[in-house]
Amino acid sequence: MRRLFKHNSKQTALLSFTHLLDAQQIATNDLTKIFFLAEQYQHEAERGVRRRHDCEGYILATLFFEPSTRTRFSFETAMLRLGGEVISLEQGLSSSLKKGESFADMGRVMSGYADMIVMRHPDAGSVAAFSERALVPVINGGDGANQHPTQALADLYTIQHEKGRLDNLTIGIIGDPKHSRTAHSLISLISKYPGNRFILISHPSLRLDTRAFKQNGCEIEEVENLTQVIQELDVLYVTRIQEERFSHPEEYQEIKGRYSIRRQNLVDAKTDIILMHPLPRVNEIHPEIDNLPQAKYFEQADCAVFVRMALLSLLKERA
Ligand code: NCD
Repeated sequence: MRRLFKHNSKQTALLSFTHLLDAQQIATNDLTKIFFLAEQYQHEAERGVRRRHDCEGYILATLFFEPSTRTRFSFETAMLRLGGEVISLEQGLSSSLKKGESFADMGRVMSGYADMIVMRHPDAGSVAAFSERALVPVINGGDGANQHPTQALADLYTIQHEKGRLDNLTIGIIGDPKHSRTAHSLISLISKYPGNRFILISHPSLRLDTRAFKQNGCEIEEVENLTQVIQELDVLYVTRIQEERFSHPEEYQEIKGRYSIRRQNLVDAKTDIILMHPLPRVNEIHPEIDNLPQAKYFEQADCAVFVRMALLSLLKERA
């Protein structure tokens, strides 16, 4: 089997972080370790291996205070396939945060019950606060509009597989760059590789504050129309307009549905462009695209399990 990810066996298996809160924390060295292992798990799964024993005896807690299908289930599937076990809080309605408990106290207490924790919450910074007193690895499964680092891992894994490289790419991000935590994490992570350029395509009110990214040397351009840039793109990363992050519902009503990618939008695109989406989609990609060879969003969701398996397996050394 041809391997895309090379690994130096002299390197330690330890990742450079204990808690994964922001994609910026992930070093390219960490990426190589995670992707090498993820690819091994993927090849094994393709050969019919359903369960491993890497995390036997370990418990993963998934604490979700916001809706999720992919992130929660792919983490839980990942842990079960590694032979570990899962305890889960969905929608956070039954937690003691309701009684006024602080994130930090909850993090400390949960450390007594689980060996690793994935948390999602609508407030930016909440997962970092939770991790402050945690004694086990804490993974940010999405904190408000801020970050979603493990989605960026799945995104880069997909890009490497489809494009054969993580550098010298022109990446268009369309829809809601301002509120999409997946876009923020993607930009942070792939900017670690040279020659990448970003074109953010959105309504002017959904533009991202690009100052921090530009300070880090990122090349970012912002436009309103896909037509003027489509021919330049190697990757078109489509995002949902994040209705739940708007303070005024009428603003959402005005903007929703503005971008819906159809076949005709791709006429001038490079033949090897790939279309990605962290999902769920509402109407920003028409289903007529789904069977085109350029559509990679379902593969992107599938591979997230292997990437999360690799992350859990490597992070358990810190548990
Ligand atoms: C995204 C999220 O929750 O940020 N979904 C995901 O985790 N794959 C994107 C979204 O909700 O639009």
